[in-house]
Amino acid sequence: MNAVVIYRTKYGSTKTYAEWISEELDCPVFDYKNISVSDLLNYDTIIYGGGLYAEVINGVHLLTKSLSRLAGKKIVVYSTGITPLDCRDYYDKLVIEKNFKPDMLDQIKVFNFLGKMKLDELSLVHRTALKTLKKIMSGKTNPSEMEKLLIDLCDADGDFSDRAAIKELVDYVKNEG
Ligand SMILES: Cc1cc2nc3c(=O)[nH]c(=O)nc-3n(C[C@H](O)[C@H](O)[C@H](O)COP(=O)(O)O)c2cc1C
Repeated sequence: MNAVVIYRTKYGSTKTYAEWISEELDCPVFDYKNISVSDLLNYDTIIYGGGLYAEVINGVHLLTKSLSRLAGKKIVVYSTGITPLDCRDYYDKLVIEKNFKPDMLDQIKVFNFLGKMKLDELSLVHRTALKTLKKIMSGKTNPSEMEKLLIDLCDADGDFSDRAAIKELVDYVKNEG
């Protein structure tokens, strides 16, 4: 197996997972800034990680826009976020629809992990965005369950990263196909 892990991170959570995965698979790991699509052609398995920001997997378009060049490779994407992992509608519908065209999922396997959000580390722009989102959601007369969850998540403060969670991804890379 000739694999590589690439990540894009704002606060370090996705990088931590990338390093854990690269240790388990004994493969190189790169910040997306330091690797090009041409470099990826040297690997059979490409694992890309990005944090979720308004359901978008940070930077994943760098990979999805070049999928045709990566035909035949095993491609894995992971997200890190603070939405509880049992919110499957969120991950399997909303996140999937925002980031991938349906046919891309024949080529890409997606995993989701819990990440980190420490309020005192956030940029002013991000703190303001969360405050605004919370205000909008809180103003709704009949918020849906998802909207109620979003209101709570705006105040999430902690590191929920879990090394054990990477097992399924690591097994998938090692064992299948
Ligand atoms: C402005 C903002 C928007 C976010 N949007 C989402 C989101 O849509 N879904 C989610 O689960 N987490 C969301 N998060 C939490 C981040 O995805 C989480 O902190 C992630 O681990 C960050 O990864 P990184 O530090 O590697 O960039 C958001 C955080 C911020 C600051």
